[in-house]
Amino acid sequence: MSGNTFGEIFKITTFGESHGAAVGVIVDGVTPGVEINEAYIQTQMDRRKPGQSSVTSPRKEYDVIQIMSGVFEGKTTGTPLFVMLHNHDMRPEAYTEIQNSFRPGHADFTYLQKYGIRDHRGSGRASGRETAGRVAGGAVARKLLENRGVQVLAYTREIGGIRCESFDEEIIEHNAVRACDSTAAVKMINKIEQLALMGDSCGGIVECRIRGVIPGLGEPVFDKLDAELAKAMLSIGAVKGIEFGAGFTAASMLGSEHNDAMNSSGFLSNHSGGIIGGISTGQDIIFRISVKPTSSISVSQQTINVQGEEQEIKTEGRHDPCICPRIVPVVEAMACVVLEDHYKRQAAMLQ
Ligand SMILES: Cc1cc2nc3c(=O)[nH]c(=O)nc-3n(C[C@H](O)[C@H](O)[C@H](O)COP(=O)(O)O)c2cc1C
Repeated sequence: MSGNTFGEIFKITTFGESHGAAVGVIVDGVTPGVEINEAYIQTQMDRRKPGQSSVTSPRKEYDVIQIMSGVFEGKTTGTPLFVMLHNHDMRPEAYTEIQNSFRPGHADFTYLQKYGIRDHRGSGRASGRETAGRVAGGAVARKLLENRGVQVLAYTREIGGIRCESFDEEIIEHNAVRACDSTAAVKMINKIEQLALMGDSCGGIVECRIRGVIPGLGEPVFDKLDAELAKAMLSIGAVKGIEFGAGFTAASMLGSEHNDAMNSSGFLSNHSGGIIGGISTGQDIIFRISVKPTSSISVSQQTINVQGEEQEIKTEGRHDPCICPRIVPVVEAMACVVLEDHYKRQAAMLQ
């Protein structure tokens, strides 16, 4: 199985399955001599772990990380930084029923088509659990970016058709859906709880704002900064779309409206989302991703089994009724990986 590594100079390789012994990440290309400890990485892991509230999967994973290599006396050594998390709360028996059938919307059918074998327990590698390694790797990148003055912040903009009408950064980590509007957050939580009672799920939109990036990052033509961020985001399970700045609205704007005019103090607007020609402008980088409704639902649906016979399926077990709250730290982690990689690529080009 290839395709488990992301990045050119600053690279992460994730490993592990949902109900295997462990998950984690190997981070390569780490700057030596940077202070980092387990507590710093753990803070990010705690934001992603399941069982945080009534609107996330009740699986009880403590996600306690161990740094196995790459750090000596509290500082990075520049050698591969290997972070591991043991899986604890596994209930593979909960997946026996889906062992021989395909959940609509999940990767059961496609994994079997590709590999001819599939670890059905908790979705194996196609589980949201794979993102634990990304968040650990992203925390290392975030530490390096902090020293560069870069801040990466993601939050929920919309869930189940309920939109945030205001933006308050202070409340994001203080509501269960990580929304930027407290009134909308209450409605979103109610909606998810109602849908969960009916055995259904919903999706939403997560926005990411990156501040403090220097102008000039990005490698045209195939490794444009927006193309790299898009690949990073679309590699996260359940992410179905991405737009930068004005995004799809640009299609109905006039050139005179959409262009980011300039004066001697800089840009007068940011419809580009902070990237033009694949290169950062120095303005905030802003993008939004669309997150599909969780596919594992206990509403009865039509499917087939591995013999191709038609059957009804209801997916019981512990699932996120909406993935948005838990995907927020994953979006930040992947954005951090892309940016740290591009800072290093820019430095290499200037040598
Ligand atoms: C943090 C996170 C948690 C997730 N939780 C679930 C879940 O509980 N149940 C589920 O069916 N899918 C969940 N997913 C989504 C699946 O991983 C994803 O839908 C699946 O791998 C198929 O990939 P695709 O939706 O990108 O096509 C989660 C994804 C993430 C990133």
